[in-house]
Amino acid sequence: MKNGNAVIALEGGAFAGFCYIEAWSHGKFVANSGLIVHPEYRNIGLAKQIKSKVFEHSRAKFPEAKIFSITTGLAVMKMNSELGYKPVTFSELTTDQTFWNGCQTCKNYDVLQRTEQKMCLCTGMLYDPNKIEKSKTHKHDYDKKVWSRLKNIKQSMFLKKEKK
Ligand SMILES: CC(C)(COP(=O)(O)OP(=O)(O)OC[C@H]1O[C@@H](n2cnc3c(N)ncnc32)[C@H](O)[C@@H]1OP(=O)(O)O)[C@@H](O)C(=O)NCCC(=O)NCCS
Repeated sequence: MKNGNAVIALEGGAFAGFCYIEAWSHGKFVANSGLIVHPEYRNIGLAKQIKSKVFEHSRAKFPEAKIFSITTGLAVMKMNSELGYKPVTFSELTTDQTFWNGCQTCKNYDVLQRTEQKMCLCTGMLYDPNKIEKSKTHKHDYDKKVWSRLKNIKQSMFLKKEKK
């Protein structure tokens, strides 16, 4: 919070929700962690707003970093997918041991240990800014080609009509 890495939702003075970001592998990765919404404020889209704010903040503060989260929660998977995260194996995530040490308090930690940190019950999800920008450029090029073809077809139709 002191480093400006947390998003806190308040209604007046009342706590409504929280999430924070943490950089790993010397800033190559950023994790969005600790998302929680107070039971009185659930199912009204607050987590979605917090996730969206924390995502914007991560992109602004660490524009080159890959953003990731690990979760078993359907709600979080849905929100991540909407933001452009893709499911990945743990091999794509940070190898920073301090991050994985944070799993020690989880009841499934034995699974992570047995698999030598290759997999667990959580799904890893990753937003890779390079891949997303590339796919956006491809889509833009594809759209340009389609529009140019459509324009050619229309022009040839109108030219024929004009000749008649
Ligand atoms: C998970 C949690 C953060 C969701 O907060 P919320 O403010 O109620 O979520 P929102 O209202 O913004 O809903 C976001 C989306 O998730 C869906 N969703 C919310 N709770 C869900 C649940 N329990 N199961 C499945 N989907 C859920 C919503 O339908 C919505 O999807 P939509 O956009 O397709 O309609 C909240 O229930 C919570 O704090 N749980 C305890 C802590 C926790 O599990 N944190 C996640 C750690 S990874």
